[in-house]
Amino acid sequence: MCPGSFDPPTNGHLDVVGRAAQLFDEVVVAVLVNKSKKSLFTVDERMDMLAEVVKPWPNVVIGSFHGLLVDYCRDHDIRAIVKGLRAVTDFDYELQMAQMNQRLSGVDTLFMSTSPEYSFVSSSLVKEVATYGGDIAHLLPDSVHRRLLGRLAERS
Ligand code: PNS
Repeated sequence: MCPGSFDPPTNGHLDVVGRAAQLFDEVVVAVLVNKSKKSLFTVDERMDMLAEVVKPWPNVVIGSFHGLLVDYCRDHDIRAIVKGLRAVTDFDYELQMAQMNQRLSGVDTLFMSTSPEYSFVSSSLVKEVATYGGDIAHLLPDSVHRRLLGRLAERS
């Protein structure tokens, strides 16, 4: 399971998902439905974008969940969560969540170091830079880049 907000998916996400797809028989990429968090794309749009960009890996499926991640894992018989670690700043919170999830359910979290070229990439930073006209083309899959520029144009 590779969970996240994916608002929108970046090349950093894709790096982790693609490498997980080579390690596991099946990978579920699941979008968190969080009504209290303001997002640029709807959950359906995020799932569409993900479905498009994971096409190279036939063993990757897209899902969505609300509530606890470990409940989704239990209901779908998922035994491992894969998370990308960009830098030491990710580690504290990710470790805390991994330990909580382990205690709640027995599901283990495996950390994958992101490729160094993506260690500074986050969805929120990409959105901020794009909002002010910065070039983020190299940080997103082409299809996502087009949709992001389209959405920002609609909003402005
Ligand atoms: O892409 P994000 O926003 O960093 O992803 C965070 C996510 C969705 C993986 C995390 O917030 C999560 O697992 N949320 C589900 C709710 C939950 O299980 N909370 C308890 C965590 S110990």
